[in-house]
Amino acid sequence: MTTIELQPATKGLHGALQVPGDKSISHRAVIFSSLAEGTSYVYNFLTGEDCLRTVEAFRKLGVRIDQEADKLTIYGRGIKHLTEPAAPIYFGNSGTTARLMSGVLAGLPLFTVAYGDESLAKRPMDRVVVPLEKMGAHIYGRTEATQLPLAFKGRKLSGVTIEMNVKSAQVKSALLLAGMLAEGETKVYERGITRNHTEMLMPQYGITINKNENVITVPGNQQPMASDLHIPGDISSAAFFFVAGLLTQDSELTIKNVGLNPTRDGIITTLQRMGANLAISNQTYVGHEPVGDVTVKSGPLEALTVEGDIIANLIDEIPILALAATQAEGTTVIKDAKELRVKETDRIAAVAQNLIALGANIESTDDGLIIHGPTPLTGAVVHSYGDHRIGMMNAIASLITDSNVTIEDKDCINISYPNFFEHLSRIMK
Ligand code: S3P
Repeated sequence: MTTIELQPATKGLHGALQVPGDKSISHRAVIFSSLAEGTSYVYNFLTGEDCLRTVEAFRKLGVRIDQEADKLTIYGRGIKHLTEPAAPIYFGNSGTTARLMSGVLAGLPLFTVAYGDESLAKRPMDRVVVPLEKMGAHIYGRTEATQLPLAFKGRKLSGVTIEMNVKSAQVKSALLLAGMLAEGETKVYERGITRNHTEMLMPQYGITINKNENVITVPGNQQPMASDLHIPGDISSAAFFFVAGLLTQDSELTIKNVGLNPTRDGIITTLQRMGANLAISNQTYVGHEPVGDVTVKSGPLEALTVEGDIIANLIDEIPILALAATQAEGTTVIKDAKELRVKETDRIAAVAQNLIALGANIESTDDGLIIHGPTPLTGAVVHSYGDHRIGMMNAIASLITDSNVTIEDKDCINISYPNFFEHLSRIMK
């Protein structure tokens, strides 16, 4: 296991950073471009391990994808030209690859087998398998097809009306992809607002889709057409540096070209509610996605309660928000976040264990965390549990500890942010 020992910041953080491309959009760009007819160019693609799993999956299905740094050239030949892979497809640690590709593989006339790493093999797959079965999918797998490995005896699915029983963009996207390939119309009723990148990208790839409040309708038998795409910086990666700048004394940091899609910006509104000195400038669009530069300056934070609909909007940012809360005045309560228990690791347990090891006053609850602040943090040995966002939370915490922090399993950070440590050391200079 690769460890890293990090020293606390001795002075404020300064400078400007551009975080890598958005992970969710990168996966979807590969999926639509690979299913498309024609050549698509994807710029600012996230070259983290997770998104490369989606690239590998389509290479196994016979699609030529060339990568030059963060630019992809995807030579789509259309759905009909995808070929049956001779070997199982490895999804690694990537839940997004697993869920979205299930929607694709179930609806293609191919036999495929997919598996994941130890963490992904524990994560629930029934949330996609059960609704796909309602569309006629034949999916077989471990623990009654609730976990990977899964085998897909792909076939023409039938469009149906589905009421989602979990608030999940991955499940919604799997159903929209399956619906696009199916015979007839698919209607998906969402239980709450989740990230909408799939719906935003579909028209860009020439796919008809209709959204009316919480109902999304997609006609079947659609063939996507190639499109070029520029991907905004990932707000979920930028969030680590927002909090770094807010917590480290005498800091001023600008994170440029951050995706500000309103289904993803809950971390910004929440930090602002905590009194953060956080300002957005240069707002524009990259493709159809809103982006801007985010400048943070260190200063005091106040505790608050985070619950309800906003949770889906900042679900991946809760570990770093919890770290911010350890330095806020008062008691922060995070509720309605039970989904964190089935992420790359049980994030409620992992956040609590690590922050307690670092000296925080924090309790875990069934569906969230209660954090009493502010508490000074101390150096310790902490564990990522193979979870990139837990690893990055620990690394940002080390900026404000009184002595060094040793992080076990630092390499998992490559899953979503391959140049994270380089960026961290750059702003400490
Ligand atoms: C994602 C959706 C979210 C998020 C994950 C990426 C996506 O998961 O946590 O990191 O790209 O659709 P759920 O759909 O399980 O909430």
